[in-house]
Amino acid sequence: MIEDLDKGALSQKIRELKKKRNAIILAHNYQIGEVQETADFTGDSLELSQKAAAVDEDVIVFCGVHFMAETASILSPQKTVLLPDLHAGCPMADMVTVSELVEWKKRWPGRPVVCYVNTSAEVKAECDICCTSSNAVKVVESVQGREVLFAPDKNLAAWTARQTSKTIIAWDGYCYVHNNILARDIREKKKMFPEAEVWVHPECRPEVIDLADKVLSTGKMVKEARVTEARDIIIGTEAGIIYRLKKDNPEKNFYPAHDMAFCANMKKITLKKVYLALDQMIHRVEVPPDTADRARGAIEKMVRL
Ligand code: 13P
Ligand code: SF4
Repeated sequence: MIEDLDKGALSQKIRELKKKRNAIILAHNYQIGEVQETADFTGDSLELSQKAAAVDEDVIVFCGVHFMAETASILSPQKTVLLPDLHAGCPMADMVTVSELVEWKKRWPGRPVVCYVNTSAEVKAECDICCTSSNAVKVVESVQGREVLFAPDKNLAAWTARQTSKTIIAWDGYCYVHNNILARDIREKKKMFPEAEVWVHPECRPEVIDLADKVLSTGKMVKEARVTEARDIIIGTEAGIIYRLKKDNPEKNFYPAHDMAFCANMKKITLKKVYLALDQMIHRVEVPPDTADRARGAIEKMVRL
């Protein structure tokens, strides 16, 4: 019985199944530690998209949330993509539907539309180019015109607007995990660890960003942690990333800016669900070819940048 297996035995079973299915496991930086340990590659949204576009294996087990698995499926349509829990969605991605986006575009005709990857495939199919938290400025700079529509994250839009001369017209969406990190949380942690640097994700509120030493995507946090001189760092993003940061840099200290900054959906993926998905080849994520073809253009434009 799978319930009787400990983590080690379950990981071993997953490794065997991976070989049998010719599968690769990709995991986002917010995944729980044991899932990160079983993954072949762990990264941020952009790194995972790039990896998904280039895999040789027949099956991709995507340990993250639904829009990420969809992106992998769009970029590698000939592969089977499994999301171990199909209920692992992203509430921010759900804040803009395709019909709402189409209406919005009508109100602002002629403006290019930049969509954060945290959107459904249908929404991506209606936009000109995608971006992630690590390349939003570059993407906004790359589009024609002085005014740009940006959906759905208003905080990422505000952070991007500070670094470009373009006018960004933002959708009113946000990530509840990052929006719950308040300026007073940062100030309290700074009192506790006065020597610490503050690193925050661009999905944080502008007033939180104002208190940060660095504003970084999760992938850039992982890279910066390896080279920084700082010994103590307050991390303003989903707390799951601290597992990776500590593992890579045992001599440094990482403190969550908010002790409850957990994304419930990211945490839905467990080793047991990874095993079951691979064993039974269940929880496939498939995007209808017409939608996938239209969304692929927007994602590939971003990946090429
Ligand atoms: P990253 O692209 O920085 O990994 O962010 C993804 C995400 O969902 C942040 O909440
Ligand atoms: Fe979505 Fe926020 Fe969770 Fe990222 S952390 S998947 S943006 S809800």
